[in-house]
Amino acid sequence: MTKISIDGTEFEAVAGSRLIDAINHAGVHLPQVCYHPQLGPIQTCDTCIVEVNGELVRACASVVAPNMKVATTIPQAQAARTEAFDRILRNHQLYCTVCDNNNGNCTVHNTTKLLGVEHQHYPFQTKPYEVDNSNPFYRYDPDQCILCGRCVEACQDLQVNETLSIRWEDPHPRVLWDGGAPIGESSCVSCGHCITVCPCNALMEKSMLGHAGFMTGLSKPSLDGMIDVVKGLEAETGYNAILKVSEVEAAMRDTRIRRTKTVCTYCGVGCSFDVWTKDRHILKVEPSEGPTNGVSTCIKGKFAWDFVNSPDRLTKPLIREGDRFREAEWDEALDLVARRFTEIKGLHGPDALAFIASSKCTNEEAYLMQKLARGVIGTNNVDNCSRYCQSPATTGLFRTVGYGGDSGSIKDIEQADLVVIVGSNTAESHPVLATRVKRAHKLHGQKLIVADLREHEMARRADVFLHTRPSTDIVWLSAVSRYILDQGLAHTEFLNQWVNGIEEYRKSLEPFTLEFASETCDLSVDTQKQVAGMIAQAKRVCVLWAMGVTQHSNGSDTSTAISNLLLVTGNYMRPGTGAYPLRGHNNVQGASDHGAMPNLLPGYQSVDDPEVRARFENHWGVSLPSTKGLDNHEMVEAIHEGKLRSMYLCGEEMSIVDSNANFVAAAFQKLDFFVVQDIFFSATCRFADVVLPASPSLEKEGTFTSTERRIQRLHQVFEPLEGSRPDWVIIQDVAKRLGACWKYQNPSDVMDEVAALTPMFAGVSYARLEGYKSLQWPVAADGSDQPLLYTKSFHFPDGKARLYPLAWRESPERLDATFDLHLNNGRLLEHFHEGNLTYRSPGIHAKTPNTFVEVSPELARERGIESGTLVQLTSRRGRVRVRALVTDRVQNGQLYMPMNSTESPVNVLTGSHVDPVTHTPAYKETAVQMQILESKGESPLPRINPRFGHPTPQKGVEVERKWRQPGYRFPGNALVQINTKQED
Ligand code: SF4
Ligand code: SF4
Ligand code: SF4
Ligand code: FES
Repeated sequence: MTKISIDGTEFEAVAGSRLIDAINHAGVHLPQVCYHPQLGPIQTCDTCIVEVNGELVRACASVVAPNMKVATTIPQAQAARTEAFDRILRNHQLYCTVCDNNNGNCTVHNTTKLLGVEHQHYPFQTKPYEVDNSNPFYRYDPDQCILCGRCVEACQDLQVNETLSIRWEDPHPRVLWDGGAPIGESSCVSCGHCITVCPCNALMEKSMLGHAGFMTGLSKPSLDGMIDVVKGLEAETGYNAILKVSEVEAAMRDTRIRRTKTVCTYCGVGCSFDVWTKDRHILKVEPSEGPTNGVSTCIKGKFAWDFVNSPDRLTKPLIREGDRFREAEWDEALDLVARRFTEIKGLHGPDALAFIASSKCTNEEAYLMQKLARGVIGTNNVDNCSRYCQSPATTGLFRTVGYGGDSGSIKDIEQADLVVIVGSNTAESHPVLATRVKRAHKLHGQKLIVADLREHEMARRADVFLHTRPSTDIVWLSAVSRYILDQGLAHTEFLNQWVNGIEEYRKSLEPFTLEFASETCDLSVDTQKQVAGMIAQAKRVCVLWAMGVTQHSNGSDTSTAISNLLLVTGNYMRPGTGAYPLRGHNNVQGASDHGAMPNLLPGYQSVDDPEVRARFENHWGVSLPSTKGLDNHEMVEAIHEGKLRSMYLCGEEMSIVDSNANFVAAAFQKLDFFVVQDIFFSATCRFADVVLPASPSLEKEGTFTSTERRIQRLHQVFEPLEGSRPDWVIIQDVAKRLGACWKYQNPSDVMDEVAALTPMFAGVSYARLEGYKSLQWPVAADGSDQPLLYTKSFHFPDGKARLYPLAWRESPERLDATFDLHLNNGRLLEHFHEGNLTYRSPGIHAKTPNTFVEVSPELARERGIESGTLVQLTSRRGRVRVRALVTDRVQNGQLYMPMNSTESPVNVLTGSHVDPVTHTPAYKETAVQMQILESKGESPLPRINPRFGHPTPQKGVEVERKWRQPGYRFPGNALVQINTKQED
């Protein structure tokens, strides 16, 4: 800390920090149109000019120095700021009262007021461009654009999609998409960063337009007429009077616009934001201060919410009658569920029933589902879909470091010197997390190694791309570990102090020579040496992995090999290091944390531990089963064997997201009684006996836990759609009808019970999670949490980590003369999973209407395939018809199918072979044959998809080019050397 003087008053500030932050912190009102704390200084607007030690400078670009003397009120600085803002108003028409952005937070409006502008010196000038409405979600109005460049900075350097630029040399500069394409045909991925940071109405969500204001829904001619009237008044009254009217109108909006904080319902990154609503209309999603995402979102969190008000929502329980369903009242449906569960339990015992909790539902709902299974029915047959993706990663961490969660936060990933990504299409599956890696890589010298079958965006950006053979990551990871140990590059001090099992581990590494790995993985020895050198030399390494590792028959072992490598190189226990399995669903971490697993009670407490059981038994007033139940893979087998007769499945499209979908569907047909709880009539509902209409996240209270173990509150945005009910209410109703005396009034009651019974969550309470507050488990009783795990020890009795010996097994799924191609599969940016939610957004549907199969240019040439060719893929399990997309993202005989389809689900092709430790299906190990059905057809991906765009990478908005224009001069009384842009 150092002392600085601002307008004669002394303040403390951090030396080296941004001066503008210190001025703001001191409560001095200084204009700052282009500055956004999360973007850093942009320096385009010149409205923040102050005098520092006698010189006029931009406060945003200056840094605090000891004994700095800052003057904001001297006339020269004020005059410079007024001149700068006057230039801005040349580019913007103030018609606030009839503007949808007049919500009290418009920077241009508020700066006009702050500077007391009455009349413009430079008259407003239109620009010779049309409004661009070509993106389904937002529009750009060049006439309102003040050229502050915030959007460009956000797109180039925060989202790092690199679509936006401003050509300062143009006679009439404007924001450009791909250098001048219509937005809808550009590389824009509709993440919304630019709109969120725009300080005025130049970039607006279409869902706001005509809806936010009282008079903004008028027709264009009427609106233009009103704007003319308002502008006409300005000459006489000045802006002050006009702004007063618009402020009254803005205050009136508060009476009907609600802003409610929630957490994204899609992926595990855990973005949080305010949802602006007017009745049931979603005006916009506004991210700002989420602990994970700040102003960031991806297309799904920002725009994919149409499903909530879809006419397809279920609003009545359905009961099967023969081949049809009929609508029923809630009481009838719930009575039937309770009666049939009781009968089946009476006839076949409690283990004839099974329960699946949803990774889309809240922690509290997962907890209640497992309590219903264990405490009411008396079975440990309970699981969640982490079995399909995350369990192997959790196993790898349990084996080596003790906790089954990310060892740090996304901030640690940002800080790392080297990020290694294995089997994760991060830019599409965890988009906002990927932005942090892309930014660190672009701006801060972070190095990136990517290992994958596909050359996706992260692979293209990588310093080293390891294009490995399918299912062989364990081999190169172990070979690199061995090489590091053999060459004396390991972190010996760390190993000696913190790690057990080195000898046995070294012995297990004997087969893993670089040569063996080279042959097995198709990676050269030199490349492996380069990777080993980069990992050993980097001060801080984070490894990220996802389903490209876990969904293999060696998923647990490969996850373990990753953690072993981190231990060998001492990359735990420090900020900027560690293991990061990227969780898929928004609450897949939380569903497991809260006990929806066959062997573990909440907080990963074992069902066979008598002490643990006794604690739950005393609290719940029941006796609990002590042997491990069936996981969801075993449940399907058990149905076929006639052992499992009934199932209650909550919010999961299991009939097409489980592997070997035909086998799963056949099992469901054998169930005596099947209850499916969902918000839509999903493909899985077809097999149900009773369908119960539930409510999505926007209609309920609760908590989600994101990939970084972050527990966050979601607050209710809407009342449940009439006829539907929140899942926790439904589960409680079922439990009560089965004789339980549950009395939860609110999900907070459930969380209080979780905290009382689970040491890992001892200090979790809704009070500690209010608004944007969050906690990263484990949470001690006093509320202290652990953003970084393992700061003092590892989670084992002796506090030491364990190197875990491994062996290499080949996948049982082989290519042969009949099934000669390898089929990979995964997510797409625009859709979540099978697309039940995202297809209901017309904008997403238009940009990405179908699934497809990616075919390499080499294979396409060989087989006579082009984009649009209809092919049939046949595996040893089933067949699907799908159109081909020829792309160099895949190579040779590798195929890739995104999973966004209920009509051609890829899981008809995938098999029942699993990781033997966790029973996670080996989704990524599928051999297929490909037949051409129609040689020509329309490309499955329309030209308006951003994948066909042409980004224009540059660093930020390149303000120096603006300063070099002949018409530009610094609006102070002297041209001064501006402090160079501070590193963000
Ligand atoms: S990708 Fe598109 S929506 Fe996202 S910041 Fe860039 S221009 Fe804006
Ligand atoms: S569109 Fe971009 S440059 Fe124009 S006002 Fe908005 S953020 Fe600034
Ligand atoms: S990155 Fe994930 S959590 Fe964030 S907005 Fe996108 S889908 Fe939602
Ligand atoms: S805030 Fe725009 S130049 Fe400083």
